[in-house]
Amino acid sequence: MANRPLLTTTLLLFPLLVLLLSSTASHAHNITRILAKHPEFSTFNHYLTVTHLAAEINRRQTITVLALDNSAMSSLLSKQLSVYTLRNVLSLHVLTDYFGSKKLHQVTNGTALTSSMFQATGSAPGSSGYVNITDLKGGKVGFGAEDNDGKLDATYVKSVAEFPYNISVLQISHVLNSDEAEAPTPGPSGLNLTAIMAKQGCKAFADLLIATGAHTTFEENLDGGLTVFCPTDAVVNDFMPKYKNLTEAHKVSLLLYHGTPVYQSLQTLKSSNGVMNTLATDGASKYDFTVQNDGEIVTLKTKATTAKITGTLKDEEPLVIYKINKVLLPIELFKPEVETEAPAPSPTPHKRKTKKDKDEAEADAPVDDSEDQTADNENGVGRISGGHLIWMVLSSCMGIFFM
Ligand SMILES: *[C@@H]1O[C@H](CO)[C@@H](O)[C@H](O)[C@H]1NC(C)=O
Ligand SMILES: *[C@@H]1O[C@H](CO)[C@@H](O)[C@H](O)[C@H]1NC(C)=O
Ligand SMILES: *[C@@H]1O[C@H](CO)[C@@H](O)[C@H](O)[C@H]1NC(C)=O
Ligand SMILES: *[C@@H]1O[C@H](CO)[C@@H](O)[C@H](O)[C@H]1NC(C)=O
Ligand SMILES: *[C@@H]1O[C@H](CO)[C@@H](O)[C@H](O)[C@H]1NC(C)=O
Ligand SMILES: *[C@@H]1O[C@H](CO)[C@@H](O)[C@H](O)[C@H]1NC(C)=O
Repeated sequence: MANRPLLTTTLLLFPLLVLLLSSTASHAHNITRILAKHPEFSTFNHYLTVTHLAAEINRRQTITVLALDNSAMSSLLSKQLSVYTLRNVLSLHVLTDYFGSKKLHQVTNGTALTSSMFQATGSAPGSSGYVNITDLKGGKVGFGAEDNDGKLDATYVKSVAEFPYNISVLQISHVLNSDEAEAPTPGPSGLNLTAIMAKQGCKAFADLLIATGAHTTFEENLDGGLTVFCPTDAVVNDFMPKYKNLTEAHKVSLLLYHGTPVYQSLQTLKSSNGVMNTLATDGASKYDFTVQNDGEIVTLKTKATTAKITGTLKDEEPLVIYKINKVLLPIELFKPEVETEAPAPSPTPHKRKTKKDKDEAEADAPVDDSEDQTADNENGVGRISGGHLIWMVLSSCMGIFFM
């Protein structure tokens, strides 16, 4: 076996390997684990998990958590806020900037307004959601919600953990009061799923959900966690002839196939590939599909087709809605699309459609129309999975050792 090609392969692939490894190493912090070492914050820690804020904190880089000890938390809990309102209050205690204890004492001009996660999620009206940090006499630092009539409710107590400039956890003495954050909040079940989709390029899909009544099944799952994969309007329109051919029951199954009864962040989809059940699943290995990421691209593979996630319409745990570039075809209802083997780019441009049409329409080439299947080949390299790539590099390295 010739060693030179191996060496070349290794040199070519090494930067890719580094990239892969570093991409899995990012998002290193875990607020749940950081706080678990400090039992005096156990209640705060528990509610960060219950409100799903922990996952959002872990996803972000450059963040400051203003931690409340168990006695500060019990005064907050005595207000008996709903979990959704509690989420807003606690998100006011997560600053979207990094404040180590040192920076805290050196705020320019002695006072600053900084945005919190409450402000950043768009739940806060107007300018509320900002937190006032002010240097006070005697080396103290005061904190207050901006919509709190200038009252600074809390003072800095101590630094709990600092990982510059990723995450800083600082204890403050009291809950930051804010009428806006404490205002009753509708839970996710109060959201109008089809309206959200319709506004952002998935109206055709939303209309099908309403026409069949399938939207109620999606809505029933909102509180417990829901991931929706919606094909964009052009994709659905192109698919309509085949859709109309389905029986009413199969139409519903096809639509339910586009949702899963769990919240799956893009980060989770990228890092945990595997078989996923859907709202259409009834019994073992029925109406499921496989999630597989090719680097940064997340693909959904049914046994009949492969779709790509192309964007995010809404991501607010427990609900996330993604855009996809094809209708997901369950093998229970459709024959496999004919896959072309060679990954080489086709030298002849697509003749029958314009570029724009192609991007959307290639998505749903009819089952039998094999000559239209250029979609899967558009980036041959992207089809090598991370696992394969690492394996290739490792075997190449072994080639060098044995030289
Ligand atoms: C901050 O996060 C990056 C990865 O996102 C990591 O490489 C770095 O070590 C972290 N810094 C600290 C102090 O933990
Ligand atoms: C964070 O840490 C907790 C407790 O150790 C663990 O249960 C959880 O799975 C971790 N989360 C992530 C995203 O690693
Ligand atoms: C600090 O105060 C000076 C003078 O009052 C002002 O010009 C400047 O804009 C202030 N800086 C900040 C960051 O607020
Ligand atoms: C923060 O609050 C203090 C006390 O009410 C006030 O004097 C200061 O102007 C506020 N800072 C900002 C930046 O609004
Ligand atoms: C949700 O929005 C749709 C428009 O997409 C509308 O027809 C429907 O009445 C709304 N439902 C509720 C409960 O507001
Ligand atoms: C609809 O179904 C009929 C009968 O099964 C089939 O011949 C026809 O090709 C189908 N049309 C489409 C657009 O799939």
